[in-house]
Amino acid sequence: MRIHILWAFLLVGGTALAQEAPHLIPQPVSLTSLAGQFTLNKTTAVTYNAAETADVAALIGQQLGRLTALELPVRRVSGGSINTIVLVINSVADPRLGQEGYRLSTGPKGITITANQPAGLFYGAQTLAQLLAPVAAPGAVAEPRLSIPAMQVLDYPRFSWRGTMFDVSRHFFPKAVVLQFIDDIARLKINTFHWHLSDDQGWRIEIKSRPKLTSVGAWRVPRTGYFGERPDPKPGEAATYGGFYTQADIREVVQYALARHVTIVPEIDVPGHSLAAIAAYPNLSCTQDTTARVNPGTKFSEWYDNGTFKMLLDNSLNPADEAVYAFLDDVFGEVAGLFPGTYIHAGGDECYKGYWEKNPACQALMKAQNMTHVEELQGYFMNRVENIIQSKGKRMLGWDEILESGRLSPTATVMSWRGMKGGIEAAKKGHDVVMSPGNFAYLDLMQGDRTLEPRVYNSVLLKTSYSLEPVPDGVDSARILGAQANLWTEQIPTYFHAQYMLFPRLWALSEVFWSPKSQRNWAGFVPRMEAHMRRAEAAGVNYSRAAYDPVVATTLADGKLTLMIDTELPGLDVFYSLDDTVPGRYSPRYTQPLNVPEGNVTLRAITYRNGQPVGRPLTLTRDELQKRAK
Ligand code: ACM
Repeated sequence: MRIHILWAFLLVGGTALAQEAPHLIPQPVSLTSLAGQFTLNKTTAVTYNAAETADVAALIGQQLGRLTALELPVRRVSGGSINTIVLVINSVADPRLGQEGYRLSTGPKGITITANQPAGLFYGAQTLAQLLAPVAAPGAVAEPRLSIPAMQVLDYPRFSWRGTMFDVSRHFFPKAVVLQFIDDIARLKINTFHWHLSDDQGWRIEIKSRPKLTSVGAWRVPRTGYFGERPDPKPGEAATYGGFYTQADIREVVQYALARHVTIVPEIDVPGHSLAAIAAYPNLSCTQDTTARVNPGTKFSEWYDNGTFKMLLDNSLNPADEAVYAFLDDVFGEVAGLFPGTYIHAGGDECYKGYWEKNPACQALMKAQNMTHVEELQGYFMNRVENIIQSKGKRMLGWDEILESGRLSPTATVMSWRGMKGGIEAAKKGHDVVMSPGNFAYLDLMQGDRTLEPRVYNSVLLKTSYSLEPVPDGVDSARILGAQANLWTEQIPTYFHAQYMLFPRLWALSEVFWSPKSQRNWAGFVPRMEAHMRRAEAAGVNYSRAAYDPVVATTLADGKLTLMIDTELPGLDVFYSLDDTVPGRYSPRYTQPLNVPEGNVTLRAITYRNGQPVGRPLTLTRDELQKRAK
C-alpha cells in the first residue's frame, strides 16, 4: 500500500517538482506559491497590449525562446488568451510598482506579467527566465525546462541605482564581451553599467577631436603576470596590446543596454589615473614627459602603511593649464553626445599631487586662489570639470576623494569606495551617494583562501558581499541612490576569469541592490545560489565555488599559535589533519579552536556535505598559519 502511494506521487512527478520552492535571485518582495503549474508547448505565444512595449516584448520572446527551444511568436493583442505569456502595461498605474516593479502570475492557463513601464515587464521576464532556465550538474547536458509552478509574485526594487562597474582599461574587452556583460548583469535586474573607459593602462573610447587618445593611448606593450610587478617597456618596443571602441561601437552598446533597461555611466578618470591620455598628449601633465608610455602594469607607484602613496611616474593632469580644460571640454562634449544617461563619472580617485607641488604654475594658481594646501587644487579642478560636464547637460559623479578638497559643489554625486565613511560624510553634507565599499563590493579581490585563489592584494568573501547594507544608521536614506559592485581588471585578462570573479558575489550583491532588507537572509540565499550555479552550468557561465572552501584564521599569543576553521556556507563539515595525512571523512572533524603543535606542522583541511567532499583541499604550512595570525 505504501508503495502505491509512492507511485501515485511519482506519477504526478511534474507537480511534485513544480512544488519545489522557486529559486530566484534577487529574492522578490513577495511570492505566493499556488497549486498547479503552467507548461509551455509549441503553440505558446507571447502577447503585449501597448505599442510602446513592442521592443521589450520581442526581446522577451527571444530570451524565453532561447531558454525553452520554442518559437514563441510575439503578437500585439488587446485581451488575454490561454497558453500565452501576456505582457500588460497598466492603463492606471499600480502605485506599488513604481517605474521598475511588476506582478507575475503563473497558473495552468498561462502567464501574465503586468507593470507600469516597459522596465517592469523586462524584470518580470527575468524572473520568469530564471524559472524556465535549464539546470545542469557539472558536465551534464541540460534539457529545456518547460513547466513552472503556479505562483503570484509582487516585486519592485529597493534602490534605483543598482550598479556594476567594468574596467576595460587594465585589460581590453572587445565589444561582444561588453554586450555579454550587459546580459549577465541585466538578468540580475542590475540597471546601471559603470563603464571605466580610461586609466593608466589604456584609453578605450574614440574621441574624434583628440585622435591620439586611441591611436597612442589605447595601446601598451604586451605583458602578463602580477600587476605592479611586470617588466618595464623596453626602448623601441612596440605597443601591440590594447584596443578601443569606436563611436559607432559605443552607440551600438548604448542601444543594446537601453533595450535591457541598463543605463551606462561612462567614466573618464581624471585628474589622476591619466597616463594613457598623457602618453598621447604629454603637454597635459605638469612634467610634460614626452617619453611617457601607456603603462603595462609595472611598479609605477609606492604605497605606504598610512594609506598614502607616491607615483613614480607623473600620471596626473595639470590643474593650472587652461589647455587641460580645453581638452576636457572636447572629451566630455563627445562623451556626453554618445551616452543618453544623466551621469558622467569623472573619477577623481588616487590623484598623486607631488608633481603639482613642484610645479610653478600650480603654485601660482594656489596663491591666486588663496589655497593653503595642494588638496584644494583638486577641488578647484573637480569644480571646473563639473562645470564642463554640466555645460554638456549632464551631472558629475566621482569617487569619494572628491570630498577631500572641502570645495566640492553640492550638486556632485559621490561614489564611496574606501569603505562607507566617504558616503556617510557625503550624505550628511547633502550629496547624493552610491555605496560601493571596497571591503564588500570589489569583485576583483580574492574570494577564497589566498593560497587557493589567483593572487590579488586583498579578499572579499561571498558572505561578506551578501552582508553589505547600503544605508548606514543615522544617514538619510533619500541620499543613498543605491549600491554598486566594481570589477577592476588588473588581474583579469579574460571574460572567463571575469565571470569567475563576478559570480556568485554579484548574485549576492544583486539581492542587496534589489530585495527588501527584510527579505535578505544568508541561509535562505544559499540554496537559491546553488540553484543558480546549476543554471550557470547549463548556460555556460563560469563561476567560483570558493565559498565551499574552509576559512582559516589564526591567533598568536604567548608564543602559542591557535587556529580556527570556519565555513561560509551552513551545513558543511570540516575534516582536517595536522600530521601530514590527506584529510577525508575519517579524519578528525573540526569542532573548536586548535593549538598548533610545535615544529614544522602543516594544516590540511577539506569540507564535506552529506558525506561528499564539496570544497577544495587546503594546505597551510606553519609559516603561512603564523603569517595570518591576528
Ligand atoms: C578606486 O578603486 N581607485 C576607485
